[in-house]
Amino acid sequence: MDIHELQKIVHKTRDARRKQTLPKYQPAERDTLIKKYHPDFRENAYRPIRFGPNAGESTVRELAALLEGDSPVPADVDLTPAHQVDVLVVGGGGAGCAAALHAHAQGAKVLLATKLRLADSNTVMAQGGIQVAVTAEDSPIQHFLDTLKGGHMKNDHQLLKVMVEEGPSVAKWLMELGVLFDRDNDGNLHVKKGGGSSKPRLLTCSDYTGLEIMRVLKDEVLNQKIQLLEFCAAVELLSDGNGACTGAVLQDLDNKRFAVVAAKTVILATGGIGRLHIQGFPTSNHYGATGDGLSMAYRMGAKLLQVDTFQYHPSGAAYPEQLVGALVTEGIRSEGGHLVNAKGERFVNELDTRDVVSSSIIRECEEGRGIRTMSGRIGVWLDTPLLELEQGEGTLKKHFPAMIRQYERYGIDIAKDPVLIYPTLHYQNGGVQIDVNGESGVKNLFVAGEASGGLHGRNRLMGNSLLDLMVYGKRTGLAAASRAKSAQPGKVTLDHVTRFRAEARKHGTSSDITSPMLFPAYAKKE
Ligand code: FUM
Repeated sequence: MDIHELQKIVHKTRDARRKQTLPKYQPAERDTLIKKYHPDFRENAYRPIRFGPNAGESTVRELAALLEGDSPVPADVDLTPAHQVDVLVVGGGGAGCAAALHAHAQGAKVLLATKLRLADSNTVMAQGGIQVAVTAEDSPIQHFLDTLKGGHMKNDHQLLKVMVEEGPSVAKWLMELGVLFDRDNDGNLHVKKGGGSSKPRLLTCSDYTGLEIMRVLKDEVLNQKIQLLEFCAAVELLSDGNGACTGAVLQDLDNKRFAVVAAKTVILATGGIGRLHIQGFPTSNHYGATGDGLSMAYRMGAKLLQVDTFQYHPSGAAYPEQLVGALVTEGIRSEGGHLVNAKGERFVNELDTRDVVSSSIIRECEEGRGIRTMSGRIGVWLDTPLLELEQGEGTLKKHFPAMIRQYERYGIDIAKDPVLIYPTLHYQNGGVQIDVNGESGVKNLFVAGEASGGLHGRNRLMGNSLLDLMVYGKRTGLAAASRAKSAQPGKVTLDHVTRFRAEARKHGTSSDITSPMLFPAYAKKE
């Protein structure tokens, strides 16, 4: 059936739905729902990791293969350093830029290497905001409790305490650098409420918060003349032979040549793994989100945490085909957008946590109440025109200009018609285990942002990722710069790779998978 025909039920049922209030599920109902429908609980999607620091633990097959993959660097590569620095930052997104800026401000010699262009990252695609307890009605303690509840009480308390307490100061730093957060008519910061939060706490720049933050951070990295290598992917770490990290091998993507960077400290800020398309899910992630830092850190001996839990954002576009997987910000639901099934019914409190909302969408679709597109995809409606009715004409244009443009390109007016959505792979909840300074289990190897694990527990709240990037970008930058002051440059060896290869042979794994994979499997090879 034509998509406009299918949409009619949303228009027809709107008035009745507007009168409804939908309670949140009780704790036991939530658990049952998640266990039955959330993709984290599909047992056959998982297998144990065979060797390395997390041997025996279960993760999705795509990640297990990546972690067991072979290094692309041959054993006899020339290890003469092309660069010698105090701090090597790998990754040019929010965490990488924040880390580089803070390390540079301490007087460290910093090199920032990034696989694509500076700022090409998930940060730039973050729409909904950054959670910071800035209002008189709110507090870091409340932020801590909300996040803990959202994460199923599995968050690292120390990491979380630091994040919520340092939120206001990093927001101030961003504003001093020039980030223009939305303000009300009196000039006060305007805060919005995200799913699973008890208080409005999101600082936003319309629906392009990450883009605005990256605009400023990128500018600052360039202004500070931090040494920058673009289109240079880190493909291996270097060790001193005694377990400490001493740099990385980069690969120039233009000519494929390796370049060795000797560094007293390394900060991995390589982001997430959406482009592994776990369990065949589409993703909201940028093209380079292939978990490079995870596989390099793992080979070096760093332990990973919570590798069995991923975030499937409830509202990924399911139509049109060109947008499949793209983020439709939770902000729309925060502002009152209803989720509606094929029968015109609401089926979940739209502001419940993401794992609950995604599970309920999957339930509707599996139980025959989803809407099928002509290309065979399935989803449920997000009633966007409702916002215009509730809050006045022009609301969407004012608060969601990026979303309006995203759909306009395909002839869809979201102020008039609802959009079809389905969960999209959005975030890796776990990652490399770190301490409060962002240092991993490997000496002098720091990890910031999505590549690190523990902070968000088993389900991240909206807006806590941007905050994580800023707080732990800063802390790793400061700690790495401080360590570099006392550290002597170490030997640069690939001893850990030799050991890892021996271990792989022992377990009978073939080396036909190379990691990091750098680009998704469907990328053009030329
Ligand atoms: O829905 C969103 O705008 C996503 C935000 C986030 O993941 O923090």
